[in-house]
Amino acid sequence: MHRAAQLPVCGGRVPPGRSRERRRILTVDTATPPLSLSGPAMLALVGPPGSGKSTIAATYAAHLGEHTRVLSLDAYRARLSKWGEEADQAVTPRAIGALHADLADHLDAGRSVIVDATNARAKDRKKLLRIAREHAAATAAVLVLPPLPVCQERNAHRDATVGACGYARQVPALVVASMHAAITVNRPLGSEDWDMVTEVSPGRR
Ligand SMILES: Nc1ncnc2c1ncn2[C@@H]1O[C@H](COP(=O)(O)OP(=O)(O)O)[C@@H](O)[C@H]1O
Ligand SMILES: [Mg+2]
Repeated sequence: MHRAAQLPVCGGRVPPGRSRERRRILTVDTATPPLSLSGPAMLALVGPPGSGKSTIAATYAAHLGEHTRVLSLDAYRARLSKWGEEADQAVTPRAIGALHADLADHLDAGRSVIVDATNARAKDRKKLLRIAREHAAATAAVLVLPPLPVCQERNAHRDATVGACGYARQVPALVVASMHAAITVNRPLGSEDWDMVTEVSPGRR
C-alpha cells in the first residue's frame, strides 16, 4: 500500500499570491510521484550517490506515462564519453549542458521531466528552476536522503574498477559524504523557489 500521494500541485505555474507547498516538507513514498505531471512540470530529485534516485525516477516514470521523460545525468555522461562510460567526470559540464537543453525542449513541447541527478549544489538547482520558470512549468524537488551509512553501503556495492575514463562507478566515500552533508545543510530548500519540496519518507528508503 502506498502512502501520501495526493499532493496539490499539478502542471502549470502556481498562480501569484497562492502559497506554495514548499513551506512544509511533505513526506512521500517512493512509488507514487508527488506531482500530477499533466502539464509542463519539472520534478528534480535531490540526493547523494546511492540514495536511490534512479530507482525512484524509474518508478515514477512508470506511473506517469508517455508525456514524462526521465533525464539522467549518468546517461548523458555515457552518451558523451569517448568510452561510453557514465562515470566519465570529464564530460560532466557538457552533459549538464545537454541535459538542460533537452529539459527546455521537453518543457517547451508541454512534456514533463524528471531530472535524475544529485542536484546537490544550490547553483545547479537554481539553473534548473530558471529553465522551468522560463517555460511556466510547475516545479517540485524530491529529497532522497537516507542516512549516510545507507548511501555509503549502496555505493560500496558498485563496481570499483577504474574505467578507461579514469573513474569508477563507485564514487569515493568522501564525495558521498560531502554531497550528503551539502544536501542536509540546505534541507528543506526553504530559501529556494520550488513550488513544492517533498522528502521520501524514512520508512521507504
Ligand atoms: N528503497 C531501497 N531499498 C533498498 N535498496 C535500494 C532502494 N532504492 C535503491 N536501492 C538500491 O540501491 C542502489 C542505488 O540505487 P540508485 O537508485 O542507483 O541510487 P542513485 O541513483 O541515487 O545513485 C541500487 O542497487 C538500488 O537497487
Ligand atoms: Mg543514479
